[in-house]
Amino acid sequence: MSETKRNQFNKREDLRKERLEQERRLKERMGKVKHKIAVISGKGGVGKSVTTANLAMALRWKGYSVGVLDADIHGPSIPKMFGIHGQRLQAGPPGIFPATGPMGIKVVSIDFLLPSEEAPVIWRGPLKMAAIRQFLSDIVWGPLDFLLIDLPPGTGDEPLSVIQLLPEMDGVIIVTIPSEVSQIVVKKAVVFAQKLNVPVIGIIENMSGFVCPKCGAEIDIFRSGGGEKIARELLVPFLGKIPIDPEICKASDEGTPFVIRHPDSPSTKAFINIVEKIEKFVREREKLTKTQVDREPKDEG
Ligand SMILES: Nc1ncnc2c1ncn2[C@@H]1O[C@H](COP(=O)(O)OP(=O)(O)OP(=O)(O)O)[C@@H](O)[C@H]1O
Ligand SMILES: [Mg+2]
Repeated sequence: MSETKRNQFNKREDLRKERLEQERRLKERMGKVKHKIAVISGKGGVGKSVTTANLAMALRWKGYSVGVLDADIHGPSIPKMFGIHGQRLQAGPPGIFPATGPMGIKVVSIDFLLPSEEAPVIWRGPLKMAAIRQFLSDIVWGPLDFLLIDLPPGTGDEPLSVIQLLPEMDGVIIVTIPSEVSQIVVKKAVVFAQKLNVPVIGIIENMSGFVCPKCGAEIDIFRSGGGEKIARELLVPFLGKIPIDPEICKASDEGTPFVIRHPDSPSTKAFINIVEKIEKFVREREKLTKTQVDREPKDEG
């Protein structure tokens, strides 16, 4: 083998070993997180990040330890919604420590690594994935009950790669709006999850109906019931509807915890209801996993 070829071979070997080491670290660190749930959508702007942030707060409110991973590389919005935009991540010998959001929620976002608010992330294909893999494997989450992952919109390469990187996901939650056009993309999201072999925990219909605060009239701005209908058609659970609520938008823009500020609002009740369904899902999944482990033949040694 010529010297150049040998050098190339050694370089490839080093990269392969580094990658395996990152995957091992990622697995070990994620092993301390009991439940990992990704929030996806067929298309952008349907309220994925709002849903992730509020479900995280509702879970925390119920007493769980919660982390949020904002994996949206090009439009990270969780830090702003949690009022911690501009924070920097602390690094120590074990790795990178998450920032702390409202109620002690642990937060990691690519936003914390960007030099300025306007700076776009211009990474291309493989380089981007290498950076994400490295970033994810370096995070020291510590023990957590739930980790919610806010993924980039759509069902393209990026959300796919992130889900493939994260080991042993409990499932995905699909967010949609009720209109006909977004129902078509919900199908795509369900197929996407099935292809990845990740269970669909259920569909959430966001921006579902609006109650006029002045006259109390109920108006279906994007129609209503579309999410429920598509869930029935695709045989996946329906988790609930969240109305259009100007207070949700205001709280997200101001970075304040909506469910704590408005504990009695219909939207908070909707989030709590959804959390109860998530709890039921993970309980049943735990039972199923336990039964499978019990059934596995024991090594008689
Ligand atoms: N139920 C709701 N009531 C009122 N406003 C809402 C509601 N859900 C989302 N919004 C607002 O709609 C906008 C889009 O929401 P969000 O950023 O969560 O969408 P997204 O699906 O994460 O978008 P992207 O695909 O760009 O990541 C935000 O300004 C948010 O505050
Ligand atoms: Mg978003």
